[in-house]
Parts: sequence; C-alpha cells; structure tokens
Amino acid sequence: MNNYRKVHVFERVDYMSLFAVQLWLEISFNAVRDKGFFAVALSGGKTPIDFYEQLSSRENRLPWSETHIFLVDERFIPLNDKDSNFRSIKENLLSSLELSRDNIHHIPTEEETSLLSAKKYEKELKTFFKTKEDVFPEFDLIMLGIGEDGHTASLFPEDVALQEKKHLAVAVKNGKVKHERISITMPVINNAKNVVFLVSGANKAHIMKKITARQDRQIPASHVCPINGRLFFLMDKEAGKHVKI
Ligand code: 6PG
Repeated sequence: MNNYRKVHVFERVDYMSLFAVQLWLEISFNAVRDKGFFAVALSGGKTPIDFYEQLSSRENRLPWSETHIFLVDERFIPLNDKDSNFRSIKENLLSSLELSRDNIHHIPTEEETSLLSAKKYEKELKTFFKTKEDVFPEFDLIMLGIGEDGHTASLFPEDVALQEKKHLAVAVKNGKVKHERISITMPVINNAKNVVFLVSGANKAHIMKKITARQDRQIPASHVCPINGRLFFLMDKEAGKHVKI
C-alpha cells in the first residue's frame, strides 16, 4: 500500500489553483511521454472553477490533443441544465480549448434511467482503458471536491454506492440531494496514479480537520487512499484553519 499523502494549505484560492495547474502540467507531460495519452477525471461544484479558468489560460502549453477528459460524476439531468457538471466544466474549461469531441467523455444522462446511464458510462470506461473483467482503469489524475458532509464524487455518507467494489460507475439515488447522480466508484478512484482534492471555504474547515487527522473512517473522502498513487489535499486557509500540517 502506497502512503504518498501531501496536505497543502494556501493563503488564497488562486495560489491553490496555480499549484494544481503545476501538478496537472507535470502529470500530463509524464503520462504522454510514457504512454502517449493523459487520462483525467474532473469533478463539478464551485471549488474547481478558478482552477479550470487558470488551466484554460495555459491552452498552448499543455498536451491537449493527447488529453482525455472524463467526469467523476454527474447529475442525472440534461447536459445543458444549469446544475450539470458537464455544463460547468464546459463553460469554465472546455469551451476555451480546441479539444476533439473524441477526447471528451461526458457521462451520458440521456438514457431512460440513471442506472442505464451508469452502465453506458462504465462501458465507455472499459472500452477506453481496454480493461478486462475485474480490472479497474488507471486514471493519471482524478480531481475531487469534498462536501460539508464529507462526500466526494457522488459518494455520500452511509450510501450503498460508497461500498461498491465491482462496478466502475454507479447510479446514486440519495434523498439528501436534489438530483439522482451517476458516479465513478471508490475502487476506480483508488486505482488512480494521482488524486487531488481541491477544497475551499470556512464551511469545509470542520470536515477537513476530521479527514486530515484521519479521525473518522466513515467519511466518504476518508475512503480515498490510492493503492499505488499519490494523494494531495489542497485547500485555502479558510478550509484549512483547523488542519495541522
Ligand atoms: C458534485 C461534485 C461534488 C463536489 C462537492 C464539493 O457533483 O457536486 O462532484 O462531489 O465536488 O460537493 O462541491 P463545491 O466545490 O461546490 O463545494
């Protein structure tokens, strides 16, 4: 079991974003050099928007034509809905890049049910990563956020989806959130080469204290422990005010 785990607290969100851009740059160039492509999964939410904006301003200095962008999770709504993660990532990152459609792997939410959408996304993951049965894809980078309840991706506390050990993607019907979701599963997250949490705001300070101090294994974000990968907790000083470095 790998134990590469770094916690960084930044004075400002834009400094945190810049650090994350440097990580993306390092990881993407190494991946393209070693295997010809860079596979990354992105989260929705508000926190990563500044990061996506900073990333998009480096268009000409990153290997975009060899970059494949997947989504960590999605709400089971049309992709042009104001709550869609894909819409947010498109507006804040993708629309400023000249990425081929073949490089963008959104979660298909046009299926009859969220379960069918999850199955279709799982098939796309298996096809792209050419994984055999019971083998998990190995993302070069997965960008995650953390909710005030400690959820990450769309894996919520005490939700059965958090315990999924076989599938690569699951449908999530959690009464605590407005929309049904589709999410990659914890085994996919923990098989990544690099996992980066981006967290900001005083409303996350209490949960970040528990997670970084490893106080409560029940917290979904505490289940993230890459088997052979590196784990980064990046946060601004508001979210990190109770964190001991
Ligand atoms: C989503 C995200 C979710 C998000 C956290 C943090 O679909 O909402 O994938 O896991 O990362 O809820 O969201 P904020 O960055 O908006 O606080």
